[in-house]
Amino acid sequence: MTGRLTVIDCDPGTDDALALWLALGSPELDVRLVTVAGGNVGLELTLANARAVVGLAGLPVPVVGGADRPLLGRYVSETRVHAANGIGGITLPEGPPAAPGVASDAIRDLLRRAGPGEATLIGLGPATNLALVFATEPALADRVREIILMTGAWGEGNITPGAEFNAASDPEALAMLLAAGLPVSLVTLDLTAQAFVTPERLAALRARGEGRCLGAACDILAAVPTSRRFGFAGFPLHDPCAVALAVRPELLAVREVAARVECGEGPGRGRTHLDRWDRWDRWDRWGAPANVRLAETLDADGFFALLGERLAALP
Ligand code: BDR
Ligand code: CA
Repeated sequence: MTGRLTVIDCDPGTDDALALWLALGSPELDVRLVTVAGGNVGLELTLANARAVVGLAGLPVPVVGGADRPLLGRYVSETRVHAANGIGGITLPEGPPAAPGVASDAIRDLLRRAGPGEATLIGLGPATNLALVFATEPALADRVREIILMTGAWGEGNITPGAEFNAASDPEALAMLLAAGLPVSLVTLDLTAQAFVTPERLAALRARGEGRCLGAACDILAAVPTSRRFGFAGFPLHDPCAVALAVRPELLAVREVAARVECGEGPGRGRTHLDRWDRWDRWDRWGAPANVRLAETLDADGFFALLGERLAALP
């Protein structure tokens, strides 16, 4: 099988680490480049974590650092969920050195060499690196088959009452991507809540094998605090859902909606507005045609089976 030419932009991140391993273990994807932004923790750590995750998988995929802060506004970390080192306090062996250059340049180079509609971009962190690609060379949009972003929510946020962490981290970058005429698919908090890690699911994952990536992934999951939003029964596994949409799209039900993100100052900053019921047609003077494919439901058992199978296939 020839996999889809894929770039993963991330900020590892406990769930980013699992998403990277899911992608690297999936023959449906040909992961050619991993780019990194500061997000869950600062860039120095997210870059070291991405290098370590790729190194543990034993694959020669270049890892390139990028933005250490949003386009505007201030950088805020999320160490409550991901711990001070970004991967739940778990220590991984040092990975290979970062490839030279800057993330947005590396993505542009790869897109220039890709055919029309060939590249899949998967964004798992603040959208800064990806937004810079198309801000500086908008014509490269025609190389993109799909850009899948784990970002936003149609319901409550997780970092403020209204906003999800990645969207809140760089709303202007997300707004730029939504306006760039790209084939964007969104995997939001409402979808990832369906990928709920319970002690039973974690035990089943661990029982899949003895490999070092599977073991590290389970150790990282075991270190994630259970979520107050879900009565401490477990926690949602966000970023691997975005990879699952590329690997096995039939696990997710999607439909086209209009999406916007709030960029003003104030409590709504970073909030996404996802028009699941075509309301703006009737109420918004400016109208808002559908501009994204929104993933609404997940086959959770199928998702965890896929995750287990692919993690177990890695060394
Ligand atoms: C998103 O924010 C980060 O903390 C996670 O890695 C995920 O990408 C969930 O809101
Ligand atoms: Ca992330």
